Amino acid sequence: MSQFAPQSLAKKPMLVKKIVVANWKMHGNLKQNQALLADYVALLSDLKQSQVVVCAPYPYLAQLQSLLQHTNIAWGAQNLAKNAEGAFTGEVSAAMLKDFGCQYVIIGHSERATAYCESDENIAQKFLQAKQHGLTPILCVGETLIEREAGVMELVVGKQLDTIIKLHSAAIFADSIISYEPIWAIGTGLAATPEQAKAMHKFIHHKIASLDKDAASRLKILYGGSVNPQNAVQLFAVQNIDGGLVGKCSLESQAFEKICIAAELAT
Ligand code: PGA
Repeated sequence: MSQFAPQSLAKKPMLVKKIVVANWKMHGNLKQNQALLADYVALLSDLKQSQVVVCAPYPYLAQLQSLLQHTNIAWGAQNLAKNAEGAFTGEVSAAMLKDFGCQYVIIGHSERATAYCESDENIAQKFLQAKQHGLTPILCVGETLIEREAGVMELVVGKQLDTIIKLHSAAIFADSIISYEPIWAIGTGLAATPEQAKAMHKFIHHKIASLDKDAASRLKILYGGSVNPQNAVQLFAVQNIDGGLVGKCSLESQAFEKICIAAELAT
């Protein structure tokens, strides 16, 4: 068991009903970001019921901090180190993210898990780092197409969650975010159907609730994978879908605005 002590964390329930996270991935530059963020600020300032979060590459966190502070948009990173500090060349710690005003951090995105061989244990350590430093982790889980076709998607997602539960207990999911991202839906234009997403969100919620009801009631579960202005309306209407993690469409301000409005109206 880890040194995670749930009682040591102040309860800070997420009051907003829906959360929409822009995952810029490895896109952008100072000039483009400035224009995109100016659009976000102008287009999204009226949102009341939902929280928008922008997750950018590390070098642009200072830019996010300077352009988004004093707005209703929060920001975060796309990864963090599994250790608190030390001789880990190229890594970025949770405390460093806090220095730049980050409140959120994406953990275990499948693009990292595949390309950088990230294990479930690494992901669990990163999750703990985020929680210990007051960052809200956005944990990505999801199955491949082969796993879905074989009907083992719940086993796969369950196993991804089990590593964290075993190391830190289910209590760590209170005030955290899980994003269900079927790998076959990411960047393919082929989103999960509302029925497919509903079934998996229900599974995730029940799994955590069976171990810790309070944690489950304070956990947000997002859907990610080819979310666009058309499918967002139906997806966000589903019970247990608390918002979305948006890649491609977050780079186009008008598409992103429509997705955020779908979240706002669904609340
Ligand atoms: P996508 O990416 O919206 O481009 O499919 C989602 C994600 O990978 O977070």
